[in-house]
Amino acid sequence: MSLNREVLPTNVTPLHYELQFEPDFKRFTFDGVTRVSLRINDAAVDTITLNAFEIEFESVKFNGVAALSIDANEKSQVVEFKFPKGTVLSCAASNGGKGVLEIVFRGILNDQMAGFYRAKYTDSVTGETKYLATTQMEATDARKAFPCFDEPNLKATFEITLISTPELTNLSNMDVHDERVENGKRITNFNVSPKMSTYLVAFIVAELKYVENTEFRVPVRVYSTPGQEHLGQFSAKLGASTLKFFEDTFQIQYPLPKMDMVAVPEFSSGAMENWGLVTYRVADILLDAESSSLGRIQRVTEVVQHELAHQWFGNLVTMDWWESLWLNEGFATWMSWYSCNNFHPDWKVWEQYVTDNLQRAMSLDSLRSSHPIVVPVKNADEINQIFDAISYSKGSSLLRMIFKWLGEDVFIKGVSNYLSEFKYANAKAEALWDHLSAVSGKDVKSVMNVWTEQVGFPVVTVEENNNTLTVTQNRFLSTGDIKPEDDKVLYPVFLSMKTGDGVKDVTLAERSQKIDISNVKDNFFKMNADQAGFFITSYSNERWDTLGKQHHLLSVEDRVGLVADVKTLSSSGYTSSISFLNLVENWKDLEDSFVVWQQIANSFSALQTAWIFENDSIKNGLNKFLNGLVSDKINALGWDFDKSDDYALQQLKVTLFSTACSSKDPKAVSSAIRMFEEYASKNIAIPVLIKPAVFSTIATSAGTVENYDRLFSIYQNPANMDEKLAALKSLGQFNDPQLIQRTLSYLLDGTVLNQDICTPMVGLRSHKEGIEALWKWAKENWTGLVKRLLAGSPVLGHVVTVCTSGFTSEESIAGIKDFFSQVDTNGYNNNIAQAIDTITAKYRWVTRDSIAVKEYLSEHRLL
Ligand code: BES
Ligand code: ZN
Repeated sequence: MSLNREVLPTNVTPLHYELQFEPDFKRFTFDGVTRVSLRINDAAVDTITLNAFEIEFESVKFNGVAALSIDANEKSQVVEFKFPKGTVLSCAASNGGKGVLEIVFRGILNDQMAGFYRAKYTDSVTGETKYLATTQMEATDARKAFPCFDEPNLKATFEITLISTPELTNLSNMDVHDERVENGKRITNFNVSPKMSTYLVAFIVAELKYVENTEFRVPVRVYSTPGQEHLGQFSAKLGASTLKFFEDTFQIQYPLPKMDMVAVPEFSSGAMENWGLVTYRVADILLDAESSSLGRIQRVTEVVQHELAHQWFGNLVTMDWWESLWLNEGFATWMSWYSCNNFHPDWKVWEQYVTDNLQRAMSLDSLRSSHPIVVPVKNADEINQIFDAISYSKGSSLLRMIFKWLGEDVFIKGVSNYLSEFKYANAKAEALWDHLSAVSGKDVKSVMNVWTEQVGFPVVTVEENNNTLTVTQNRFLSTGDIKPEDDKVLYPVFLSMKTGDGVKDVTLAERSQKIDISNVKDNFFKMNADQAGFFITSYSNERWDTLGKQHHLLSVEDRVGLVADVKTLSSSGYTSSISFLNLVENWKDLEDSFVVWQQIANSFSALQTAWIFENDSIKNGLNKFLNGLVSDKINALGWDFDKSDDYALQQLKVTLFSTACSSKDPKAVSSAIRMFEEYASKNIAIPVLIKPAVFSTIATSAGTVENYDRLFSIYQNPANMDEKLAALKSLGQFNDPQLIQRTLSYLLDGTVLNQDICTPMVGLRSHKEGIEALWKWAKENWTGLVKRLLAGSPVLGHVVTVCTSGFTSEESIAGIKDFFSQVDTNGYNNNIAQAIDTITAKYRWVTRDSIAVKEYLSEHRLL
């Protein structure tokens, strides 16, 4: 196989690890021992090679024989131990083909949220600055914590020992075997784990408190630093019921004796599914449901269910290699929505899925620089970059597609058979398709192979000629500049044509096909019923007009899909932006679904983002248009935002209010300002549902230094996490040049945690002054940023995107390319390429449609 992967030699295979760690909180180092039992596959080789990075070796022995040489390679992150000739052979002979490698080492308890690292926090009682020690191994940082065979299919059992001090708690994947305090040290031995991958190993040494829920077969605890543990109740209960739900659904037990979930004060992603010891960023697990926005409650629910889904998908059955990462992340994403729908049917999350993951996936996959779901990745720099919308959102969108195709029972049965066959082992997607084919009798494999192995997705063009449709597929690119070499794939497209008589199943597997519509009632048809498929549909202008008048025949998903598709088509030149504007204008009085309104707001905001460097009169006109869509509606619904409304009404009011504020509706803006004044001066509460919108409005419509100071002090002294993050984002939304500089200065001086650095940046990206200042600042601070956040970390990838993708001109691309040609971009080169494609799509859109948009606005007397 010439897969070109940078993998370890196969002369030995790990079977069992005994690991010991003792962190030193003064020197920020840790002492460690790896004792790994190996199966010897080739006794003639006297070299053993493992992964290790930033580790200092004290002694290395193979069955008692010291290594002759230790050769660590920084670049490839491996270490080679050479033993005297014949060492391995004689060991293999006397130990039944096995041997034990013992490595005593020292590592760095770093502050980069990777490997075994330190997280800083403030003690909520004494105000002291403290540290805890915790791990983040995925994707390839277990090698920073201990020398190991750091590949997902080299599963082994783990027996971990932690040494700390009596006032601290030691936690790991497994429950405690025995614990003692001896000579002022707390020594904890944990039970042996099941066979698992190195990236799932976890351990924590910290001052911790917990709450426990016992409604599930095994205890579910939520740990936090002392003083916040009561905020863990929500997730502990949710965790217990979610574990039970997955056990019942898949008929496979959660195999560990406990589930600990820990709120970690500095954390690089949202959460990490370590088996039996799931770690989270604080805001994504601790929750005061009473005082949090709906978005926050839904986010915590999603994250918890996602990580618990991984306990089966990823932990019990693991992808064979990182190129199949989507099996982990796509599945966990799909399962979190599936279980959320089960717990909260009133949230109608599958409707929301269409505005959320489906759009996110298509937006990345419509760039020339996208990649297939299954993509060859050879080393850490490449592996880290595929934790993106393709693996998560396109992966889960395709699962949603085949779930609908096969039906719930069949799908779940096939998945459950797959899990049983591969438990404690590794698998590729082929095995899953085989199981799904077996239970359904359908050829799942040939359909899914195209979707997972080819990049992109099609636009299906529908041409009408009397009673015949001609449907044609071509690869869709948001830059609208498709070339023959981009357009070679024929996707198996489930057209699912919705008509007045139900849904007609038509599969388009060829380039083009004809469909007879002579029996279609009421001149109504719409492709992609409920947006179950992964494609967009381009209709004629007349058909867009007709669909715009058939609101009553369309489901929420259909309406969301039409709004999203027509915007995407306008932005890439398949249709004019006027079709988009007409459609939303037509629906403004008819539409009651908050989900559709969210899509309207998102799509319109995409247009405004592309027009951000245009002149103010056009931008004001766009705001007036948007405001015209929502103002009557919000006045009719009323201005009370309390939690006694049902979920859908709360969401609708929040969406409309936020849109009214962002489009500078005078009444919404003045009420936001009044609420903020009363909050700041008299501590009269702002309704939690709209607090984020109120803070943003202050920044954009009342952006004085005094208000900046007030929001800054809310950030430093927040009532809860939700408020803290809303305030932080709003700081970036002030566009006064001095305040922009103030926000930038907080990014690196410790005011903003590394994990949160993108939050104010996202605020800055929302206005042109911010976009320019942010990029200038990023260029000046680049080396420091990379050092601090690490190439390949999720945070740095996001920083690259946020700092560059706000631009909208060809010249800006030249500047971006020029800057990055002078630095090493390994670990984030995909983000750069994608940002450039995004900018290209925007300037082409504006170039094409700015006159038409201007005329439209002036015809509507909005200029
Ligand atoms: N396995 C990931 C965490 C991760 C992300 C590790 C990137 C290494 C690199 C975890 O399961 C995850 O996907 N977390 C998401 C949660 C979300 C999709 C609900 C996150 O961090 O945002
Ligand atoms: Zn995940």
